[in-house]
Amino acid sequence: MALSGGLGGGGSSWSAARSYRQDASVAEHRLAPGTLRRVAALGRPFRGLLAGFLGLVVADGLLVVAVPLLLRRLVDDGVLQGDRATVVAIALAVAGVAVVQALVVLVQRYLSARIGEGLVLDLRTAVFAHVQRQPLAFFTRSQTGSLVQRLNGDVVGAQQAFTSVLSGTLSNVVSLVAVLTTMLLLSWRVTLLALVVTPLFLLPARRVGRRLAALRREAMTRNADLGQRMTERFNVAGALLVKLYGTAEREDAEYADRARAVHDVGVRQAMSSRLFYTSLAALASLATAMVYGVGGLLAVAGSLSVGTLLALAALLGRLYGPITGLSNVQVDVMTALVSFERVFEVLDLAPGVQDPAAPRPLPPGPLAVELDGVTFAYPAAGTGTLASLAGQPAGPPTASSGERAPEEVLHGIDLRVEPGQLLALVGPSGAGKTTITALVARLHDVDRGAVRVGGVDVRDVAQAELHRRVGVVPQDAHLFHDTIGANLRYARPEATDEELWRALEAASAAALVRALPEGLDTVVGDRGHRLSGGEKQRVALARLLLAAPSVVVLDEATAHLDSTSEAAVQRALDTALAGRTSIVVAHRLSTVRSADLIAVVDGGRVVERGRHEELLARGGLYATLHRTQFAPQAHQQARPQEGADRRDAPLAS
Ligand SMILES: Nc1ncnc2c1ncn2[C@@H]1O[C@H](COP(=O)(O)OP(=O)(O)OP(=O)(O)O)[C@@H](O)[C@H]1O
Ligand SMILES: [Mg+2]
Repeated sequence: MALSGGLGGGGSSWSAARSYRQDASVAEHRLAPGTLRRVAALGRPFRGLLAGFLGLVVADGLLVVAVPLLLRRLVDDGVLQGDRATVVAIALAVAGVAVVQALVVLVQRYLSARIGEGLVLDLRTAVFAHVQRQPLAFFTRSQTGSLVQRLNGDVVGAQQAFTSVLSGTLSNVVSLVAVLTTMLLLSWRVTLLALVVTPLFLLPARRVGRRLAALRREAMTRNADLGQRMTERFNVAGALLVKLYGTAEREDAEYADRARAVHDVGVRQAMSSRLFYTSLAALASLATAMVYGVGGLLAVAGSLSVGTLLALAALLGRLYGPITGLSNVQVDVMTALVSFERVFEVLDLAPGVQDPAAPRPLPPGPLAVELDGVTFAYPAAGTGTLASLAGQPAGPPTASSGERAPEEVLHGIDLRVEPGQLLALVGPSGAGKTTITALVARLHDVDRGAVRVGGVDVRDVAQAELHRRVGVVPQDAHLFHDTIGANLRYARPEATDEELWRALEAASAAALVRALPEGLDTVVGDRGHRLSGGEKQRVALARLLLAAPSVVVLDEATAHLDSTSEAAVQRALDTALAGRTSIVVAHRLSTVRSADLIAVVDGGRVVERGRHEELLARGGLYATLHRTQFAPQAHQQARPQEGADRRDAPLAS
């Protein structure tokens, strides 16, 4: 919608156009306390610009009556008196007004752009900084995608509202007052006559406004439906599913149904609004005819000059626009405030995992890792998200309909890894292994107990330092859509090419990168060169080596590796873990064999611990896991792991 201007546009066009596209239901919305104060606070840095802007809006509103008044003089004092000099002088004055008006509009636009874009900049950076610092749990919420969409929309909506509601409303009020006063002074009888029809404008305006809002909502829902369908079918996974199980004809038909629904609403919307504006225009013309008639009779009787009659007619054309514009001012203002409120809602999200007020440093050198009576539950679905995202008609249904209490995933875990040692975590799928690794890097905070690194509670360490010292390689390592070099340097921006190659060499990934079309400059990631799962993990290992952490936390890929890449990954791991405290979620026999300690996790508890041979001899869960998971690897015929089909693990990116 054409909200960007803030041009005010005093009376020239139907400035009401904006109002009817908005949602009447927002007028009943209850604002959070303090919203207005916060909006005002946001405007504070722009005080000077705002004052200038509003001054120009008022000037623009006042200029509306200038031309009709000049017209009156032109006719009465110039034309009817046969005074050429006056005619020329007034024509020049009209030209002058036009130039001034153009200048006012230009400067006004410049100021509103400065204020609006400044506001967007401030809001955007604040929201980004805030969302970025949310705990990982926030991002695993399914609504994150729509959150981004909504934020973009709301930030821009808030900005547009700020400038255009301010200028639109103010300029409507100013023009209305100026036009009405002038008209009353010129002829109170004609003015009252013109005002008699006002209710005829306002009543249908409100009704049709509501109807248009309902249609607009429906159009939005149908459009979202259509868009959703396309995104789902046009991504690789969806397209694959259609090719394997669907038929193109069925897809075509379903899409056409949805597209037709959009088409139907579009037609109804167009007709409703056209009908509305046409009847308003017709009404205004009728009123003008009435004024001409009555005013003409008065002019014949000599109680009204011809110039005054013409001026009144001209002013009349500038009267009804502001009136209809202001009839929905409540909806305009509320729409604006609701956009702000949604942005504030995001800024008010509790930051979750936070840095301590007085961080304690980690001791230098190798670090021990300890979990002491750790109990943890993932936050329940639906918490930590935004209230305004729930109950969005266009959005996907949220899972929070029957809010469950958070379910405890870890129940009193005690584990200790000495500096430089290797702890292997094994256990059935869903046991809580990935969750344990996430807690060591403090991606979530524990509910009870403590996680200590180098003897210091992770909650007492600055997160930046913790993440420098504890390196994590998730199960499904992520690479940004960028070059290999840039992806590696994400861990250490100042690394030289030589260091990159050394890390790649150590991670058994150097040959692989050398074989790529552009070496280190090859773009990888979602839309770039596709690396296989094993290749990606080795590049991720190289990135870890560049960061050179003291503690390595690694979720071994569950996907089956062939024996060549298996050997490469093994070599890479040997280098990566040498001399470092390591916690590895182990899926490979070689890892568990070399572990200093194996902890068997089941149902959120450590049920067995010891070394490979001891645990085998005990004949418990480990012995079973060994038979089903690890032993087949010894015969080089590994089957897909049971864990491979699980839902997204918390560390998987
Ligand atoms: N983000 C999350 N929100 C809520 N529950 C989760 C989340 N991530 C994992 N869970 C739950 O926590 C439990 C432990 O999950 P975890 O990922 O730690 O298992 P795992 O031992 O790593 O399994 P696998 O071997 O399959 O990777 C599971 O019941 C899982 O459903
Ligand atoms: Mg896991």
